[in-house]
Amino acid sequence: MTQAPGKLAQAPAVPHIVTELPGPKARAHLEFDRQWTSPSVPRAYPVVPVRGEGCTIEDIDGNLFLDFNAGIAVTSTGHCHPKVVRAIQDQAGKLLHYSADFYLPIYAETCAELARIAPIKQKCRVFLGNSGTEAVEGSIKLARFATRRQYLVAFLGAFHGRSYGSVSLTASKAKYHTGFGPMLPGVFHAPFGHVADLRWFDDVLFDKLVSPEEVAAIILEPIQGEGGYVVPEDGFIQGLRKICDKHGILLIADEVQSGAGRTGKMWAIQNWDVEPDIVATAKGIASGMPLGAFIARDSLMTKWGPGAHGTTYGGNPVACAASLATIKLLEGGLMANAKARGDELLPGLRALQARFPSVIRDVRGIGLMIGVEFDSHERAAAVEWGSFQRGLLVLEAGHTVVRISPPLVITAEEAALGLKLFGEAVAEAAAK
Ligand SMILES: Cc1ncc(COP(=O)(O)O)c(C=O)c1O
Repeated sequence: MTQAPGKLAQAPAVPHIVTELPGPKARAHLEFDRQWTSPSVPRAYPVVPVRGEGCTIEDIDGNLFLDFNAGIAVTSTGHCHPKVVRAIQDQAGKLLHYSADFYLPIYAETCAELARIAPIKQKCRVFLGNSGTEAVEGSIKLARFATRRQYLVAFLGAFHGRSYGSVSLTASKAKYHTGFGPMLPGVFHAPFGHVADLRWFDDVLFDKLVSPEEVAAIILEPIQGEGGYVVPEDGFIQGLRKICDKHGILLIADEVQSGAGRTGKMWAIQNWDVEPDIVATAKGIASGMPLGAFIARDSLMTKWGPGAHGTTYGGNPVACAASLATIKLLEGGLMANAKARGDELLPGLRALQARFPSVIRDVRGIGLMIGVEFDSHERAAAVEWGSFQRGLLVLEAGHTVVRISPPLVITAEEAALGLKLFGEAVAEAAAK
C-alpha cells in the first residue's frame, strides 16, 4: 500500500467489500494465527484488521468495514484520531518509559485530569495501571485495605476481568471460572437490576451469610457490559448507595466499558446521580492505548502508603498522552455526539424490533451503549455473522444480545447506514 500511515487505502463509501469474507489473505492469516496464538483467546468472527480511521476498519484484503464495535468499546475517539495519534507520536519521541516509581510529570497530570472529571465531588487521587482488570484489582485491594473488612459483593451477570481477583467477581458466564477454582474467597453475588432485588441484601446476605460490618465493598457495572448490556431499573443504583451508606460499605463503579463518555455522560453512573466511592476505568479513556485507572477521594486513597500498591508499566507516558488528548476530545463534543447518535439509533432499533417482534426481544441502552436482545443465541450469532458479511462489525454480549458500541465520532450518516445494514442482517436471520 502506498498511502500515508493511518490513511485508508481508498475513500469510497464504507462498507466497501471487494472479496468474499473472509478474503484469501484473511484465510491465510487465520491459518498462521491458529498455529501460534493461545487458543484461550476468544475470537468472534474472522475479521483481520490492519488499519483504522474514524469508524472505518480496513482488513488485510482491502475490505472496508463500518465499525459498530470500536474494539469492544475502546476506540472512543475513533480509530487513529489525528489529535490522539499526534499526542502519542510527540510523547513517543520524548520518553517511552520511566516507571511510576519516579516522578513522571505526565503521570501526575493524567491523575489530576482523571480526578477532575471523576463523578465524585470531593478532591480525588488516582492510581494508573494498564488495563481494566488491573483497575478492578486495585479497587478491591484499596477497599479491603481502607475498611479492614474482607467481604466483597458483585452481581450475577457481571464482568470485571480475568485475573484472579476480578474473575472471582465476574459472573456473566460459567466458562470464566471453569477449571480455575478456587476463586478468591469472600465474594458474594447478588441479583442485578430490579429495585425489588435489593431485598436480597437484608433477606439473604446480611441475614443468613455475613454481617454487613464485614463487607468492604459492593462493585457494580452501572450498565452491565459483557453480561448483555443490561440497564438497571431506576432506583436500583440509588438503593445500593443507601445500603452502602447505612453499613459503611464502599460502592465501586466499574466504568471500564460504560465510562469515557459512551452514554453521553462521562460516567454511566451519572445517569442516576449517584456518587461512587471508587471508580475503575480503562478501555475508552485512552482511545486504545493500554491505560487503566482507579479513582477515589483523598480520604480513602491516603489510607495506604508507599509500596502498598504499584506497577512497572502503569501510567506509561505514551498511554497518558493518549488519555489527555482523549479526555479533551470527549469533553470537546464527543460525549454530546454519543447522546445525539444514541438518540437516533435507539428509536431506529426499536422500529426494527416492531418489524421483527418475535425475533428481537428487547432494545435497551443509553447513548452509544445499546444492546439488542434476540430470541436465541443462534439468532444473535446469525445477526453478528450477517452484519459481518455486509461490512458491519458488531459483537455479541451475554448469550443472546448483540451490542452496538461504535466509536463516539460516528456521524449521523454512518449511524443510519449501520442501522440499515443491521436491519438487513436481522431480516435474513429472521427468515432462517
Ligand atoms: C466492565 C469491565 N470491567 C473490566 C474489564 C476488564 O478489562 P481488561 O480486558 O482491560 O482487563 C472489562 C473488559 O471487557 C469490562 O467490560
